Amino acid sequence: MGHLKRIHDVLIVGAGLAGMRAAVAVAPGLDVAIVSKVHPVRSHSVAAQGGINAALGENDSWEKHASDTTKGGLWLGDQDAIEAMCREAPDDIHALERMGVIFSRDEQGRIAQRPFGGAGFPRTCYAADRTGHALLHAMYEQLLKRQVYVYEEWYVTSLLVEDGGCRGVIAWDLLKGGLHAIKAKAVILATGGCSRIYLTSTNAVINTGDGMSMAYRAGAPLMDMEFIQFHPTTLKDTGILITEGARGEGGYLLNTLGERFMKKYAPEQMELATRSTVSLAIGTEIAEGRGVDGCVLLDLRHLGRARILERLPQIRQLALDFAGVDPIESPIPVQPGAHYVMGGIKTNTWGETALAGLYAAGECACVSIHGANRLGGNSLLETIVFGRRAGLRASQYVATASPPLGDAGALQREEARIARLLKNEGRERAWQVREELGKALALHLGLARTKDRMTGALAAVRALKARAARVRLDDRGQVFNTDLITALELGSLVELAETVVAGALAREESRGAHYRADFPKRDDANWLKHTLCYYTASGPRLAYTPVTITRFPPA
Ligand code: FUM
Repeated sequence: MGHLKRIHDVLIVGAGLAGMRAAVAVAPGLDVAIVSKVHPVRSHSVAAQGGINAALGENDSWEKHASDTTKGGLWLGDQDAIEAMCREAPDDIHALERMGVIFSRDEQGRIAQRPFGGAGFPRTCYAADRTGHALLHAMYEQLLKRQVYVYEEWYVTSLLVEDGGCRGVIAWDLLKGGLHAIKAKAVILATGGCSRIYLTSTNAVINTGDGMSMAYRAGAPLMDMEFIQFHPTTLKDTGILITEGARGEGGYLLNTLGERFMKKYAPEQMELATRSTVSLAIGTEIAEGRGVDGCVLLDLRHLGRARILERLPQIRQLALDFAGVDPIESPIPVQPGAHYVMGGIKTNTWGETALAGLYAAGECACVSIHGANRLGGNSLLETIVFGRRAGLRASQYVATASPPLGDAGALQREEARIARLLKNEGRERAWQVREELGKALALHLGLARTKDRMTGALAAVRALKARAARVRLDDRGQVFNTDLITALELGSLVELAETVVAGALAREESRGAHYRADFPKRDDANWLKHTLCYYTASGPRLAYTPVTITRFPPA
């Protein structure tokens, strides 16, 4: 019983799609466990709506998928990684189907595919508008079938690093309290993104970038953190995702004059241009006074009741519950909102990071597939392809890796850190600092960035980082201390916000999601390169590394 000894061959942090797919891929006979701060089916993957891409159609091909992905990412994605993902996508979709995923079907009974932005073909497979939900539950069944042990509601505070390699984690048992070392020959981080650095976001409140932050602190570089995707259509006020599938099914975007304004910005692709194009267009309409109460309108009425109920039932319910609007009868008020981090822990195409024995997959990783702007439907695909790849590669690694030894004093260091935090006598609570951080980024690091605004943002983030270290915990107990977890999560958020702003300030060009009003042009001569971000005690140190170009030269 490996889990009782808290020692495993492979330990996965995060129980979303990337983590569970990695666990399912680990070689039979190896002891694999997952540690997650929430129950697996509460992971944020469950919120993915519109679908997962794969070139299944007769006239489609993985090369076309790779070309669209490269172009959509403004050539900043590494093409070896893009090729691997697009080539392997069809087999992975069929594997998911065999695992029991209830994909929507076309009239012939094949897996149905809908058009998505920036895609030359309808290649987004879906389960109505609850695709993440369908995938996550099927994957959880696989976990149960394999009897993978899950440390449920355990919060990982740091990585255990021994002789230059990762040999496990230090984690807090939320239910009972207390820190423990969980040792492993290999660790896979699958902890999702950090879009909760913004106040409103399509992300679950748990998306605080803990894995990115702990890898960064342990010496693995982060890459391209300045690229934060704003999804074009999030619900007014709440920022809840309104899937791109709504436009894929034929929804229109209208301004206050009733115009389909996308004809000015992308006359051919219209509402299905890439996300950075559509978000900027919406931002421009609102800024120039053609918005509707800070939003634009997403009109689905012409699709008709039957189609809305069949293909977009969740969207209808969300609009009813959170905006009081029935899309069958009225357009939905939407605005761009923080959605996805293209950057993350730098990995190769097998999930290997700069630290031996440490792997990363899914949104916390930067392989890099998405470059400067992710295509909708490629995120779920990334979790499946690169989760599987990381599980396979970690299995090979542990075959020859020696067992982990002690905890090199890490447990005592973390205990001292938590004890200090519990005793803090500061005036502020963690949620107050978090809210201010979210507001500062929304104000200074929105759709259009400038040097002045970002300089202000950097100063604000640094001040908030200092305040985050002093927050007061009202709950100083051990059992289910969510106050403590909020304070630890805040530590991740401020750390990562600083990397985002530092990278954005340095990159003097516009590319995809990184739009600089003061440098509005893409500059391949100087900036066709990845930003690397290394941890230092005084803040991030930036470096740059070339993009891998294979078959699609920048155009
Ligand atoms: O719009 C959506 O359904 C989101 C999909 C994605 O981000 O891949």
